[in-house]
Amino acid sequence: MEKVLVLDFGGQYDQLIARRVRDSKVYAEVIPYNRITVEKIVERGYKGIIFTGGPRSVYEDDAPRFDPAILDAGIPILGICYGCQLIAYLAGGEVAPAKTGSEYGKTEFAHEMGVLFKGVPKITVCWMSHTDFVKKVPDGFRVTANTRSCPVAAFDNDEKKIYGVQFHPEVTHTEHGKLILSNFLFGVCGCIGDWNMEDYAKSCIERYKRDLTGKKVLCALSGGVDSSVAAVMLHKAIGDDLTCVFVDHGLLRKDEGDIVEETFRNQFKMNIIRVNAQERFIGALKGVSEPEQKRKIIGEQFIRVFEEEAKKIGRVNILVQGTIYPDVIESGKGDAATIKSHHNVGGLPDVIEFDDIIEPLRELFKDEVRRLGIELGIPYELVWRQPFPGPGLAIRVIGDITEEKLSILRDADAIFREEIAAAGLEKSTNQYFAVLTDTRTVGVMGDARTYGYTVALRAVSTEDFMTADWSHIPYEVLGKISSRITGEVKGISRVVYDITSKPPATVEWE
Ligand code: XMP
Repeated sequence: MEKVLVLDFGGQYDQLIARRVRDSKVYAEVIPYNRITVEKIVERGYKGIIFTGGPRSVYEDDAPRFDPAILDAGIPILGICYGCQLIAYLAGGEVAPAKTGSEYGKTEFAHEMGVLFKGVPKITVCWMSHTDFVKKVPDGFRVTANTRSCPVAAFDNDEKKIYGVQFHPEVTHTEHGKLILSNFLFGVCGCIGDWNMEDYAKSCIERYKRDLTGKKVLCALSGGVDSSVAAVMLHKAIGDDLTCVFVDHGLLRKDEGDIVEETFRNQFKMNIIRVNAQERFIGALKGVSEPEQKRKIIGEQFIRVFEEEAKKIGRVNILVQGTIYPDVIESGKGDAATIKSHHNVGGLPDVIEFDDIIEPLRELFKDEVRRLGIELGIPYELVWRQPFPGPGLAIRVIGDITEEKLSILRDADAIFREEIAAAGLEKSTNQYFAVLTDTRTVGVMGDARTYGYTVALRAVSTEDFMTADWSHIPYEVLGKISSRITGEVKGISRVVYDITSKPPATVEWE
């Protein structure tokens, strides 16, 4: 299988580069610069290498560098941003801080020549984000593009097949970035582009079969897309050597626990342990209304329940986690402030004994995980499930949680979901759910006064859940949902629709 190495120097967009390469049907893997040697790179037979960007300056003492022998290894290289400066530095060129300070954002660049720019208009827009720049290209290299403030926006050495671009071709703001990357992959590296998800699934399954058969492997299954895809892949590789533990915390949507159990136990014939811990969770949450406190309690209880189950299973060799790439960023690549402490299975490694963790989806983006799920034969409805937070309905019942409130919310939420599906809006609306507010209002039913809860409907359209727009659901659909909820769910006297985007609001109310 042809593959390209994305050598990671700490850039923000390293996985995005890999993803763009995979979009061109060439397999890419990301490896940190300090975890691989030139010899290993040569041995593994990569068709090309992409040096990523990074926040450092090549002249800093502890800046990430690489063995200069890589430039003579006979493998095509494309350096992006810091990667481009690093090539210049390693090959004897000169890198300096830009006189005008940082260049950031959309910038016009002009190119003269070069295989990298084949088919790209002479003047076009790229995305810049740098402080240093290449002042002098190394001997044997030539400048191929510039911007108003950056005299070396790109350079190359065709003979050695080494290329550098100061801008970021992987982001969509670079108008012809995709073409520039394709020119590198196909025009320079000679890739054919025959990689697909089916092959990826097959090769992962073969690898896990080879490495893990006979070992005791444990997976925390939530029924969400990520843990389901990870578990099914492992199950295809090692069958009953995999045990899945599904903790039903009683904060799931209507019938969800039974659906998860039915799907994995009966359809997939997986070895699954369902732990019915509803009472325990609801008990621990009694009287708690502060959202972060709720998350903390649920996280702790989850770990405790899992620990107890793991003890019954005995020694575990491998723990499987369904971490996907966006989780990797959210949990601490960079200095982003914690807005909400997303509860996942992050605490598990501390409480059970095991030899190793595997994260089969760590490099994939959500839509890639979904494509992989389809390839593995997971039902469409499960693969396209909207995200559901780990703490479940606990953060959708505002204020303290009771069984009664959960039951009201479940019924209202089920109607909302049914009507969204009936109106064919499932795909255009990325996440939609009901929230039970703690506000009770007066209503009138028949001739009687009612005093019930206010339910809020929340629906958002988003690509990455970092920002989101409220969904413009047609009035008729909203009207039907409202009359069904007030008519069919006892205890609700008012329905409101949330028209706040993120930011300033978050997707969940708590
Ligand atoms: P927010 O509310 O932060 O939500 O705008 C963004 C996405 O994350 C989900 N979410 C969570 N997921 N544990 C999770 O596993 C949590 O505590 C949590 N809080 C929010 C939310 O449903 C949305 O998809």
